[in-house]
Amino acid sequence: MDGLITLSPQQFTRFAAFIYERTGIRTADGKVMLLSNRIRRRLRACGIDSFDTYYELLQADRTGAELEAFVDVITTNETHFFRTPAHFDWVAGPFLDELIAAAAAHRRGRTLRIWSAACSSGEEAYSLAICLTEQAGRLAGWRLSVLGTDLCGEALAAARVGAYGPRAIEAVSPERLARHFAADPAAGTWKIRPPAARLCEFRRHNLLDPMPEPPFSLILVRNVLIYFDRDSKRAALANLVAALEPGGYLLVGTTDGASEHLSGLDRCSTFTYRKP
Ligand SMILES: C[S@@+](CC[C@H](N)C(=O)[O-])C[C@H]1O[C@@H](n2cnc3c(N)ncnc32)[C@H](O)[C@@H]1O
Repeated sequence: MDGLITLSPQQFTRFAAFIYERTGIRTADGKVMLLSNRIRRRLRACGIDSFDTYYELLQADRTGAELEAFVDVITTNETHFFRTPAHFDWVAGPFLDELIAAAAAHRRGRTLRIWSAACSSGEEAYSLAICLTEQAGRLAGWRLSVLGTDLCGEALAAARVGAYGPRAIEAVSPERLARHFAADPAAGTWKIRPPAARLCEFRRHNLLDPMPEPPFSLILVRNVLIYFDRDSKRAALANLVAALEPGGYLLVGTTDGASEHLSGLDRCSTFTYRKP
């Protein structure tokens, strides 16, 4: 394989530039070994023995199929249910309080559309759906939906199946596990059940592209912008803000470093921003 174990500096630069252009992800210089290992998975799958030949194949890919498979190996999909519990407490509490009060005062309709942007394998979207389901009493008559999107096809496929191993559900209480999941002891998985499961839909979407959907009341973008640089962060956040309805909220991950690009929104807390 190229007579080399890792990418040469030139090959690394070329792949890193390609990844940045297509995804916004900035590959740090020290990540040569990590990137080499990840790309080698595609070399093996394609029966190719050189990084350069694989790069040419990627460039010549007209169907987008290899690009999709490449994205599957280069993205970091780490996630779990109720990651950063305070975010979900805010959604189920103050956020819904305000929304329901506004609807009662006829300042908005009874539709709530939430977007879990860069949702990975769906845990974030389903955690939101669980929160909404548990508030069913005060959301009676509302049209509710949670859209989960990601660039990684493999993660989206897992999200659609909705069956999770013990690590993903570590932060799910026994009561919630019993109420919202069906255990499959043979497989060692817990599968999300209706009604929470039914609220969610998953679709492929690149954060660098505008969202071609009606506006959302709430968008979560967490633990993805940390992989971006200033320019790609700015571009992604502009698309996200454009997809928010007036008065809608953007919830950002605490380490995502988004604040400098959100001057057009009102900062409500360390993790919530409201579109005027
Ligand atoms: C670490 S996961 C975060 C998942 C979840 N939001 C959370 O906080 O647990 C980051 C996800 O961002 C996705 N991603 C990276 N670049 C993207 C892009 N340009 N557009 C959409 N998704 C992207 C990856 O595929 C990955 O699934």
